[in-house]
Amino acid sequence: MSKVKKIFACTNCGATSPKWIGNCPSCNSWNTYQEEVIIKDTAQETKKKAWSSSRTKQLDPQIIALPEIKSGNTARLVTSDNELNRVLGGGIVSGSLVLIGGQPGIGKSTLLLQLATQIKAKILYVSGEESEEQIKMRADRVGKAQSECYILTETNVAKILSQAQSLEPDLVIIDSIQTLSSPHIDSTPGSVSQIRECSGELQRFAKEENIPVFIIGHITKDGSIAGPKLLEHIVDTVLQFEGDQNYTYRILRTIKNRFGSTDELGIYQMQADGLREVSNPSELLLSQKDEELSGSAVSATLEGMRPMLIETQALVSTAVYGTPQRSATGFDLRRLSMLLAVLEKRCGFMFGQNDVFLNIAGGLKVVDPAIDLSIISALISSLEDVAIPSNICFAGEVGLSGEIRAVNRIDQRIQEANRLGFEQIFISKYNTKGLDVSRYDISVIPIAKVEELYKELFE
Ligand code: TYD
Ligand code: MG
Repeated sequence: MSKVKKIFACTNCGATSPKWIGNCPSCNSWNTYQEEVIIKDTAQETKKKAWSSSRTKQLDPQIIALPEIKSGNTARLVTSDNELNRVLGGGIVSGSLVLIGGQPGIGKSTLLLQLATQIKAKILYVSGEESEEQIKMRADRVGKAQSECYILTETNVAKILSQAQSLEPDLVIIDSIQTLSSPHIDSTPGSVSQIRECSGELQRFAKEENIPVFIIGHITKDGSIAGPKLLEHIVDTVLQFEGDQNYTYRILRTIKNRFGSTDELGIYQMQADGLREVSNPSELLLSQKDEELSGSAVSATLEGMRPMLIETQALVSTAVYGTPQRSATGFDLRRLSMLLAVLEKRCGFMFGQNDVFLNIAGGLKVVDPAIDLSIISALISSLEDVAIPSNICFAGEVGLSGEIRAVNRIDQRIQEANRLGFEQIFISKYNTKGLDVSRYDISVIPIAKVEELYKELFE
């Protein structure tokens, strides 16, 4: 006998309520409750039947002392993709559940299909979005497919898992959790209860069969993964695939990882024949220009753990309208206003009559405070119309009183600048403690204040 039950679920956090409420008591967001229909038949029994775990006999768990637990049973499946291995913390852990989020068209399906066709393992690629022919077309584009890659176009989670169980693959890839549906729930695919139910089933499958599962998830306009936050709690690893549609490179970032560091990041370039790993990001991001132009400075920044040299460009021009414009791409606008105020107050530069435009080359978004120093240099360079020599780079945070503050991992930044052939790097005086500058070919110039920067650079 099936019983129809109606509930209201929060689309943000997944909390449920028997009545509609305007303000979610669990995540405090407004107007997020939606009605969902759940059909409960003699529930758990039929659910299990779809793919009852045959191999793993469920014994009652026993208490065990920590030193007695055998270590090293987190065998990792090392992929042919070094960037992916890096963000996963050294390969795919067996039985883990990995969620890859990203905007539509960013390349999630391409990344995972590429993984499926290149790894030397038995892969099941389940797609609820594309037909077999479309997947074949894409696979042909991204390279020669290996024979042990199986495709299934299906959206019913119970059918998928029973098929997966009989195939016994080394890895299951689900192209988008938002297309899956469970026969036990009557609401549409992509709704809170469907996502919660399907991801719960996938998790049970991954843990009981010890097969890693990759799930693709779409993200909403504000950048969070569509569906309840709960999804992020269920999975072991959350990766975010991001990038600008207008640029070719993509960044794969770790948001959460139970088996590795979250500071890692992988960089890819989207090409006509799929995604290519980029092992040397700085070379991609620095513009190759012959003549030196004013308003441009190079910053030694850190993305996660990876040092990267990025060009910052500023344009300071006379304001045509009454109120001067401030615009920043890839950088926080309020922080730009703060830096301008520091320059006005501490060094006497006047930007009040000028429009200021700031751009981080390559469409990157930088939050590393070490970029401040190069932004200030680019601003002064553009205002004074004096070019900064292209063999100079910067790494330092600027404080409110115009002091140059120390930044983390200065050693790595200097090394990267050194490797790329820069001849001078400006850093904070407070970063030089314990730093052996004689190890580098690059000359390290310590400065303590913004005023000193001006003297060293332009006088
Ligand atoms: P896709 O993987 O379908 O994105 P998602 O699954 O995240 O929605 O990527 C689609 C985009 O990638 C599309 O705009 C075209 C581009 N692309 C290439 O440039 N080269 C390729 O070889 C492939 C397969 C896609
Ligand atoms: Mg896709």
